[in-house]
Amino acid sequence: MTQYHVPVLLAECLQALDLQDDKIYVDATFGGGGHSRAILESGKDIQLFAFDQDPDSIKQSKVLKEKYPEKFIMIKENFANIRTGLALERIKKVDGILFDLGVSSHQINDPARGFSFSGDGKLNMRMDQDSQLTAAEVVNTYSFEELARIFRKYGEEKEAARIARSIVLERDKEEIETTLQLSNIIENCIISHKSIKAKARIFQALRIYINKEMEVLETALNDSIKILNPGGRIVVISYHSLEDRIVKNIFKYEAKSCICPPEFPLCVCDKKATLRILSKKPIVPTAQEIENNPRARSAKLRIAQKREVL
Ligand SMILES: C[S@@+](CC[C@H](N)C(=O)[O-])C[C@H]1O[C@@H](n2cnc3c(N)ncnc32)[C@H](O)[C@@H]1O
Repeated sequence: MTQYHVPVLLAECLQALDLQDDKIYVDATFGGGGHSRAILESGKDIQLFAFDQDPDSIKQSKVLKEKYPEKFIMIKENFANIRTGLALERIKKVDGILFDLGVSSHQINDPARGFSFSGDGKLNMRMDQDSQLTAAEVVNTYSFEELARIFRKYGEEKEAARIARSIVLERDKEEIETTLQLSNIIENCIISHKSIKAKARIFQALRIYINKEMEVLETALNDSIKILNPGGRIVVISYHSLEDRIVKNIFKYEAKSCICPPEFPLCVCDKKATLRILSKKPIVPTAQEIENNPRARSAKLRIAQKREVL
């Protein structure tokens, strides 16, 4: 397990957060703590609250806690509960929030977590290991229609129905308990040069579904915008188009000062713009970063700033 892997788009994130002395920041996705460490080491006298729902990340945060006992607070909580998590620490407003979405390298690299189709482990995929639903339960008990819908919606997989049908046939013969079994089922029903991408999409779909990633992200972004001080930044790295679309659309909506239909002669909606978008196009890693860290290849960074809302 690499504890101090290089965080994705690190320099870009630090710049985007525009760290200031004596301010309060949140790392909503602590992971292995790479971004958190860099924020704390940026030399500013700041306070950092970090969230992660994964007990492994909480263990990894102990080193930073020892080094920065006053400045760093780790909260084991789903970032959907960012507001209550901070309120319990008596924090109502913050000056910058970073999301580095998805799974961390230690989660992917540990076959026992069941996130990866290249290793073999139990079909688990829960980020919060205290939660109930596992990928094995979905794959073995959901109907053909439900499976096909999940694969289509969260994996954007064209062969969703074919793969769902194969799963239903195979599980009648033998329960599907491991990542390798699922991976073999996909491999056997998809032509070979397409099977790796299909596996990636099916595993992604199950992970998103199990962890309710889309719903949770929407709640977290909307609440984050509410708790930002004017001038504060919200900085989000996403790794696939479904996530990026949610970030883009929420930022766009929050940056609008009117949502009346275009045919209305006067504005009656009274909507106020709460954000200013600072990244018209998403920021992506350089070719050099992708070469050093292939995990960064699909990263997209979006930045917005809270407006003074009168
Ligand atoms: C890509 S990693 C973050 C890596 C981190 N920036 C670093 O430098 O090590 C994403 C982390 O977010 C956590 N995570 C994902 N969804 C979450 C959620 N809804 N609530 C809390 N943590 C979440 C995962 O457990 C994982 O550890």
